[in-house]
Amino acid sequence: MALVSAKEILENARDGHYAVPAININNLEWTKAVLSTAQEMNSPILVAVSEGAGKYMTGYKTVVGMVKGMMEEMNITVPVALHLDHGSFEGAKEALAAGFTSVMFDGSHLAIDENLEKTREIVAIAHAQGASVEAEVGSIGGEEDGIIGTGELADPQECKTMADTGIDFLAAGIGNIHGKYPENWVGLSFETLDAIKQATGSIPLVLHGGSGIPEDQIKKAIDLGVSKINVNTELQLVNAAALRDFIVAGKDLEGKNYDPRKLLAPGFEAMKEAVKEKIEIFGSANKA
Ligand code: 13P
Repeated sequence: MALVSAKEILENARDGHYAVPAININNLEWTKAVLSTAQEMNSPILVAVSEGAGKYMTGYKTVVGMVKGMMEEMNITVPVALHLDHGSFEGAKEALAAGFTSVMFDGSHLAIDENLEKTREIVAIAHAQGASVEAEVGSIGGEEDGIIGTGELADPQECKTMADTGIDFLAAGIGNIHGKYPENWVGLSFETLDAIKQATGSIPLVLHGGSGIPEDQIKKAIDLGVSKINVNTELQLVNAAALRDFIVAGKDLEGKNYDPRKLLAPGFEAMKEAVKEKIEIFGSANKA
């Protein structure tokens, strides 16, 4: 199946009261783990790429070629959107030109008027080629690829104004943060999420910082209108832990385990398990 926009994937999720994982990829193993698990679980999926990861993989054209090629070679039939995560204005335009089917324009660090104006421009370009757009109001806490946010709570009225720009789904800060949650984290603000939902109506909502949020809070967020949940750190952690265990146990020294296809296998399997768990918790299994 060809890459699709995320609009319909997320509208179906909203109507069906589940959320679709948006999993950040970093290389071939990540991509293969995400696509193969989504297919096995019969789940729609968003393959997310940060600007930093895009650069690491040598650029958006490489990413588009790899994801499209893999989908064809692996006979992936579930709906897949290739999504730019936290894109800058120029980055979003570049990713769209390279063939991404969805972009997040993150203008959350800008004054609201400039954020709105630039978002409208990206919406016009993306929609002209059938791609979907996510925008953000109220920065997400923590640090990801140099993007630092303080974890503020979004203003519901600003969310409404942003939703009216024609974007397809909206990310709003509700106390969520990227990376590991600190011991003293107070949890998601469901009051804020509810107010945003009331103010914005039917637009699907996005929850960033999906790694490490307790399952009951995830389920409540989905009940209150979250249709897409971003997960990055968790795959990094399980991959690193599995590789560490393998090497610390001296297994890399056995036989031909220096072969990268063997050396990286434990991390790959651990990432597949993590994706499977997210699909189960978010409720997107068998929704393809
Ligand atoms: P985590 O790294 O906390 O899972 O957050 C991912 C994310 O929100 C990507 O935009």
